[in-house]
Amino acid sequence: MGLLNRIHLKSDSEIESIKKSSLLVGKTLGEVAKLMRPGVPLFYIDQVAEDYIRANGGLPSCKGYRPYAGMPPFPSTLCLSVNSTVVHGIPNDYVLQEGDIVTADCVACLNGWHGDFAYTFEIGTVSEEKHLLVRRTYEALHHALDFAKVGNTIFDISQAVESYVKPFRYGVVKVLSGHGIGRSMHEKPDVPNFVPRTREERRWYKDEVIRPGMVFCIEPMIGMGTGEVLDDEAHWPVVMADRRPAAHFEHQVAINSQGKTEILSTYQYIEEALGINHK
Ligand code: MF3
Ligand code: CO
Repeated sequence: MGLLNRIHLKSDSEIESIKKSSLLVGKTLGEVAKLMRPGVPLFYIDQVAEDYIRANGGLPSCKGYRPYAGMPPFPSTLCLSVNSTVVHGIPNDYVLQEGDIVTADCVACLNGWHGDFAYTFEIGTVSEEKHLLVRRTYEALHHALDFAKVGNTIFDISQAVESYVKPFRYGVVKVLSGHGIGRSMHEKPDVPNFVPRTREERRWYKDEVIRPGMVFCIEPMIGMGTGEVLDDEAHWPVVMADRRPAAHFEHQVAINSQGKTEILSTYQYIEEALGINHK
């Protein structure tokens, strides 16, 4: 296993730092949530998010991000992905319409640590089938979170997502996965949302035991139709091949030195802005 494949385990104080970054993302998405209504252009939402992150001492991690040579850097603070765009949508002059679903995915860096999570919003009233897709993707994430426990493996999380959405005949997007996170936005381990096809890959994820110090993101990306995307190589945006709607929720979790799982990300500020009360 090379250096690049190593999992960077974090101390409790490092986890606390990451939690602060994640909190900044949560508050930023709270501001974003207030703008999720018909008539608002995507670039405006992005500007509000960037200003909020910078005003609070953070940096927008996605802006200028370029994981592979030869591809254009990501130009914005937020990924805003509307309807059949599942992830990595670039905020442009598109104006939100009643009935859209739109995922806001935000990564912010504070004191060198990255916070990263995402939420799919409904604009005004959406169709019943879109509403169900969004709700079940949210539930798939929370179901998977129950498996993010010491002694389980990454395989258990992957299986949890896939098995949750299977009865609805949704398609899991497989070209992208959840990921470890810390001083880099993307670290090991990969956290797929499906059970890999080859025995070798399955073995790899079954060997990846969840243990103290791990910090990673779980992020189901679910299509209403198939999970196929238009172009595997097109990193931004990622669009569903069948042009049917897709949803995406992401949470960031840590396992502390005591072996306790902590969800670092929070939907509290989003839900307050939307007037959702779970209590
Ligand atoms: N939340 C996304 C992820 O988990 C952020 C990547 S957007 C990028 O990978 F533009 F920076 F790539
Ligand atoms: Co992520």
